[in-house]
Amino acid sequence: MHDRRQFLGTALGAGVGLLAARVSRAAEARIEVFPGEPIGTIAPEIYGHFVEHLGGVVYDGIWVGEGSRIPNVGGVRKDVVDHLRRVRASVVRWPGGCFADQYDWRDGTGPRARRPRRTNFWVDVREWPAGAGDGPQRYEPNQFGTVEFVRFCRLAGAQPYVAANVRSLSAQDFWRWVEYCNAPAGTTTTADQREADGEREPLAVRFWGVGNESWGCGGNFTPEEYAAAFRRYTAWLPWGGKLSLIGAGPNSGELDWTRRFFAAAEGRGRQHLWGWALHHYSWNASGGRTSDWRAGKSDALQFDPEQHYEILAEADRMESLVADHWKAMGETDTGHRVKLVVDEWGAWHKPGTEPFREALLGQQNTMRDALVAGLTLDTFQRHADKVGMANVAQLVNCLQSLFLAHEDRFCLTPTYHVFDLYAAHQGAQAVRAVFAAPRVSYTRNGQPASLYGLNGSASLKDRRVTLTVTNPGLDAPRETEVAVRGATVHSVRAATLAAPDVHAHNTFDDPGAVAPREQAVAASGASFVHRFPPASVTRLEMELG
Ligand code: AHR
Repeated sequence: MHDRRQFLGTALGAGVGLLAARVSRAAEARIEVFPGEPIGTIAPEIYGHFVEHLGGVVYDGIWVGEGSRIPNVGGVRKDVVDHLRRVRASVVRWPGGCFADQYDWRDGTGPRARRPRRTNFWVDVREWPAGAGDGPQRYEPNQFGTVEFVRFCRLAGAQPYVAANVRSLSAQDFWRWVEYCNAPAGTTTTADQREADGEREPLAVRFWGVGNESWGCGGNFTPEEYAAAFRRYTAWLPWGGKLSLIGAGPNSGELDWTRRFFAAAEGRGRQHLWGWALHHYSWNASGGRTSDWRAGKSDALQFDPEQHYEILAEADRMESLVADHWKAMGETDTGHRVKLVVDEWGAWHKPGTEPFREALLGQQNTMRDALVAGLTLDTFQRHADKVGMANVAQLVNCLQSLFLAHEDRFCLTPTYHVFDLYAAHQGAQAVRAVFAAPRVSYTRNGQPASLYGLNGSASLKDRRVTLTVTNPGLDAPRETEVAVRGATVHSVRAATLAAPDVHAHNTFDDPGAVAPREQAVAASGASFVHRFPPASVTRLEMELG
């Protein structure tokens, strides 16, 4: 996609030449926000999360048990829900991931002491750290079932999004799970079962995933086979009209999966589809040297400038992925009734920085990851008319986490701080913004390469513009003139996440190494100049006059 961008950087629409000409002498870059050019309302669900029974996500990360000495609310780690409230977490996807197509929801019901133990999907993958035990991360004890999950969501202030098992359970199991969650009190055997599990009233689960990665761990389906399964699993569900059903969409750029599913599900199948779920991980830092899933990754902490820019370039692919899949969906869904959902995204680095041995796929989180988060959320917001939901993978102790948690130790990652900074966008009107900045140059496998210079997104709520900006460059700050078309800026507050070294990260022993800094910015009139530090994520909140 980068060849679409010219020397002056990201031009999100027309007028970049004009903008460049008007950059003030003091500034090398310019951002102009157009409050009169709305894109769409930013769905709060773009700020969604993902919780899978994988390594240390559920057991230890979230579920510590009611009898634990770790501060908890009904068995759920208190630090996690308190901080999720702070970032206004909107939705949580569960129980997987690949685990979802192995999970029998009945195992997670009934008295906890009598629930069965099962082999977890992830029991024997190569990525397990040496010496990891045979605990709940490998042998699922089912202490955290549907009721525990929905209570966790309530505590966090988020909506539940449940992924059903299409690979190894039947359509009948699916509708019975919906019934267990949503049947009115006292009406069915499953409603009685729910009441016995402590929840008399319906759990009101609206979002349901129909499988997960059905092209892979979810059953190795062809698009046509999956379309047939989707049709059958969704032809009738209790109170189906009130549910938002999400189809298992493509892996990154696999447009064929989108096109062929949409064509095969034409008519009766597609009428039940609310969202189409793309997955995209930023993992290949090799600069084109390999496409091997393991060899292509970089270390979460020890990465060089090329690996820094390559991971950001991987994340920046989200721009074209959203546009291309949206276009492919529109070839048959011509009215664009179906929303794009990105229910797994984030950086995926090499094993080796797990916060503890049982935290399979756990990894440290630096300013590089904060940039991945900022630039991805900005991309979704620039496409607020298309993206209905997104879920960063995964919430705690796994891949691009907001939290690291083990026993009585807890810390926030730089990615958490980005979610905190960006929460102000939720529910606001996304508006067009144009970024003009020299591209940043680097060496990719011995050849010259470049990435955008500054990028971001803007939204408007009442008379306040929220502008979020990422500066991917490792070496220099960006002196930038910021203007809001047709308005004067009355006052500005900046909050910046940056660190002297891009490798900076938080640990249990040093939890405050990376944290945002707030400052007032001198501004009055048509524009003002702001300096964006190297490798930084910034939020500017502007009150319009
Ligand atoms: O998030 C980890 C795994 O990545 C999920 O289980 C799967 O859906 C994806 O391949």
